[in-house]
Amino acid sequence: MMVDAPKINQGLEGIYFTESGICKVDGINGRLYYYGYSIETLAENSNFEEVCYLLLNGKLPKKSELSAFRKNLASERELPEEVIMMIKRASKKANAMDILRSAVSMLSFFDEDSGDNSEAANMRKSVRLISQIASVTAATGRAKAGKAYVEPDPKMNHVENFLYMLNGAKPEPDHVKILDTMFLLHAEHSSNASTFSGIVTASTLSDMHSAITSAIGTLKGPLHGGADEAALHMMNAIGKPENTVHYIVDALAGKKRIMGFGHRVYKTYDPRARIIKGRLEEMQNSADKEVRNLTNIALQAEKLMINKLGKSHGIWPNVDFFSGPVYTDLGIEDYLFTPIFAASRIPGWAAHIMEYLKGNRLIRPLEYYDGAIGKKYVPIKER
Ligand code: CMC
Repeated sequence: MMVDAPKINQGLEGIYFTESGICKVDGINGRLYYYGYSIETLAENSNFEEVCYLLLNGKLPKKSELSAFRKNLASERELPEEVIMMIKRASKKANAMDILRSAVSMLSFFDEDSGDNSEAANMRKSVRLISQIASVTAATGRAKAGKAYVEPDPKMNHVENFLYMLNGAKPEPDHVKILDTMFLLHAEHSSNASTFSGIVTASTLSDMHSAITSAIGTLKGPLHGGADEAALHMMNAIGKPENTVHYIVDALAGKKRIMGFGHRVYKTYDPRARIIKGRLEEMQNSADKEVRNLTNIALQAEKLMINKLGKSHGIWPNVDFFSGPVYTDLGIEDYLFTPIFAASRIPGWAAHIMEYLKGNRLIRPLEYYDGAIGKKYVPIKER
């Protein structure tokens, strides 16, 4: 019996696959909440470590809880010698996201909770991975620059230690603050492609490291986390603010995507992009010529894309658009942008994986087969 062709939602657009209490993305009004707290409130008052606690535990910590959590994070920063060696050996040729994906996979060999998929073990692995992914990212930056690995400093907070491990010097407080905000803004975003792929892997009752490895592989693509690096490359290709109109008009006429614009859920300004743009504008006075130039290009492109460019609707910037100039101001190389996104998103990934596992059901969607059936098999010598 033939089945009528079902309605297919390409890219699973508009499909709900589970319930979640972690994150609300209000794409119509351009609002974002982690456990009910607006992203603006968190960016203004909170910090990445506290947000990690919130995402993993579903509530804000008391002072003593935050202090214990910070100590726990700080105690998990060291990397096994074998992983450091792998990063050094791979660093010349390999893509930084490939290094990170391999490093996380490798970290499972050394994890004392490997093989234990209980809730308590998953929580320990999540905390460990938050610390270790930042260390791997910093170690990759050092290795790619031909510099020696820097041991973590347990006295520093998470982002301060990341910058210390990356640069080998105690970072400026204002650099720590802006990067902490970037980590916080990227920490969670409901069932985006990488979170979903992590959940799919976990739903087979695989394990936390496998799920996070899947998520990292998914984040790498330029339609997702890789857009931050691609957006900076575009700004560099534009070169000068006065070239922006020509570049964008040409790219759109050639049906090219403008990286850092558009979103599956937001049909208005991404609230994270708005906050990052605000921070970038605040940094303008103290920024060097290169960053001021990039910012001016970014602001021109933003205006053009929002003002429709002759299309029926404008296209809004997303979280990845203004990140490049901010990271450039901090002296961070473009190949680390997406690993930094992963280092920021790991609490969100882990929170969703643990939440889904509480009521786990294997994720296995359908595809509608529209090919032929019952074909006659012709032996190879007769084909
Ligand atoms: N540049 C040019 N046109 C675009 C863009 C863009 N960046 N994004 C969407 N459009 C147009 C698209 O051509 C289409 O136009 P029309 O209706 O005239 O055919 C319309 O907008 C809808 O596009 P879509 O591809 O159906 O929308 P989608 O929901 O599948 O795409 C997206 C979402 C993120 C893949 C897409 O906006 C895109 O490719 N953006 C560039 C890559 C990017 O910045 N990714 C980061 C996403 S947000 C943060 C993250 O996940 O890392």
